[in-house]
This record gives sequence, C-alpha cells and structure tokens, in this order.
Amino acid sequence: MYLTREEERMLLGEYGEALAKAIKVLVKVGESLGAGRLIEISHAHVSGISYFNIGDAGLEFVEDLAKLGARFSVFTTTNPYAALVDYSGRSPAPEVLKKQLRIVSALRAMGSKSFTCTPYYVRTPKPGEHLAWAESSAVLYANSVLGAMTNREPGVLSLLAGIAGRTYLGEAHKGLPEEVRHVVNLEKPKDPSEAGVYGLLAGKVSPTGIALVRGTADLPEPYIKEFLAAYAVPSPAHVVILEGVTPGFSRVNIAGAERVYIGRSELKEFYRDADSCENPLYLIGCPHLSLKELEQVVSKVDKVEKGELWITVGDLVSQTEELRRGVKVIAGGCAVTTRLNSLGVDCVITDSAKALTYLPKLAGVKAYLMRRDELLRKVVGRG
Ligand code: F3S
Repeated sequence: MYLTREEERMLLGEYGEALAKAIKVLVKVGESLGAGRLIEISHAHVSGISYFNIGDAGLEFVEDLAKLGARFSVFTTTNPYAALVDYSGRSPAPEVLKKQLRIVSALRAMGSKSFTCTPYYVRTPKPGEHLAWAESSAVLYANSVLGAMTNREPGVLSLLAGIAGRTYLGEAHKGLPEEVRHVVNLEKPKDPSEAGVYGLLAGKVSPTGIALVRGTADLPEPYIKEFLAAYAVPSPAHVVILEGVTPGFSRVNIAGAERVYIGRSELKEFYRDADSCENPLYLIGCPHLSLKELEQVVSKVDKVEKGELWITVGDLVSQTEELRRGVKVIAGGCAVTTRLNSLGVDCVITDSAKALTYLPKLAGVKAYLMRRDELLRKVVGRG
C-alpha cells in the first residue's frame, strides 16, 4: 500500500505506540481488501460498545488503548451503550453497570464526543466528506442521504480510524456506482414503522449489489431513517440509492436493471400477535430519535397504563430520566443490545423493524411490531 511520509512516520511509532498500532491494523486490513492507499477522514463513528456484546475482552482492549495514550485525532462519536436503567424496580447487575461505565469512561478519555447511533444529529457531514463510520444504519444514512462517503466499517476499525484520522480507500470513498442491477418500487408507507418493514424487504432484493429505490422522495426524515436502519439488516451494501434523496441519484444508469415492486399488502404479516405480550416493555428509538421526534412522542404520553415505555435518544438530552411514572427517556443507551431478560422483561412491543429483528437474539426477549401511533395509544390505554 502507498503511504505518505507522514503515515510512514506514524507506522514507525514516531507519534506514539497507540497511533502506530492503529495505522498498522488499518494498512493490513486495507491491503487485504485491495485498497491502494489510505484516505484522511473528518469524522469517525465507533460501534460495538455494549458490555453485553464485547464483554471483558472488549473492555480490556479499550482500556489498554486509553492507557497507551490513544486519543481520537478527528471528531469521533460512539454508538450507544447498554441501557443502564431499572425495569419495574429491578436494577441491572452492579458488575455489568460498573464494567459498562468503565468502557464509556475509556472512550470519553480518548475524546468521544457523544454516544448515539444517529451521529448525524450531532454533527451532520457535508456531501463528499470522507468518514469512517461503523453502525450500519448510520453508514447508510451518511452515504444515501447526506452524500458523504464511508466504508461500512467494523467497530474496531472505526475506533482505530478515529485515532489515525484515516481509513483505507474502499469503494465507498470513490462515489456512487455508475449503474445498478435492481430498481425497487415501494408503495407509500403510512408510518415510520411501515417504512422500516419496507427496508427489511427491500434489503433482501439485491443481496450482493447496490439497488436504487423509488418511492422515498417525499417521505419525512424519520421514515427514511427507519427504512435505512432495517435495510442494512439483510443487506451488506454500504449505500442504497434513493430516488429524489441521494445526491447524484439521477446520474446512475438503471437501463437493464431488474424491476421489483413491494406493496403494502406485504407488510401485514409483520404486525401480528402483539396482544399476546401481556406485560410489555414498549420501545421507541431504534435508531435514536431526533429532539423533534422526542417532543412529538412525549407529548402523546400522559401516563402508562401497563408496563413501561422506553424512549432511546442520543446524549443530546443531558441525562436519562423518568418523565412520568413508567416513561423513561434513555440518553446514550440502546435497549436492543441490553440483556433485557436479565431485568425480568418478557416481551417488547416496538415500532422499529430493526429492533424487531435483533431483540430476540441480542436482548433475549420476544418482540412484536406496532405502528408508532397505535403503540402510543396502547401505552396510555386507549388502544
Ligand atoms: Fe441504535 Fe441500538 Fe437500534 S444502536 S439502531 S438503538 S439496535
């Protein structure tokens, strides 16, 4: 791989051991993927920091780096950590709490600016900016909505890229593809949750390639966010070209692409059986809500009839708090990567198609999907 003189000095350890380690791994990974050089980035976003996911090995890795003096050299944000809140009076295990907070402190010491999976609300990249973002939902948002350029980085690599201020020059950094193999037409979703289900379905259409999607041009931002978060579940793509949204979409050649239609009749099977969840934890905020969405949601909940409602947001709000009995706004936390079964949660009703997919596996609970307004009516006992 071609390295600048500055990068060679970094590799030789002239700027410290931590930076040398970071750049060494980036070069190795880049070479194995056929990248010819590194590229400077303006913003790194790190994922995979829930103690439930990375355990003691991850904790040690992050703490060792911080002790070595590793510091982020560019603006760096980090995914949310496990949701450290009580559920129906039951608290997370003290050991887990302590270890999760050690991970957060090490990342803060390295210079992380925020804990959220919607880093574009903290700092919005401009079109053409080079980034090193992990968290698939944010990667697709950066590339497909903002016109920025980021590989779909693994969590560790994004952390090292934040230290080095660089990543390998992957395909994502070279702009949109000239043509696509699939064009997916969507019927209009009526709610962010439905947009998410469309994402799950559309993400399966082009398993190895990049698709162009029609029908998203006039959708409100939360719909697009849910669509992309769910799209990334089955699809490994770093971008999906959204007609009317993605900067430069009209230059992509769609002649010869296979056409696929996804209609509302395909959504039905996802909205089933929620009534069998008798004592639910309601969850909104996967991905994290914007402040505007938070206000809208909170204004509709004056009480909780049964169970609890958790709303997850970035640490744009200063702290986690219980707004009303059973309504918890969780700042910087992710319920999906928390072992909710260890808190006594049996089942979750969510409006997020991404959460629906991952909750059983990562949180150890049954999950049901409900449209946002319907869910909020149910929370207050009017559903
Ligand atoms: Fe964010 Fe956790 Fe969902 S990181 S996208 S709230 S799974």
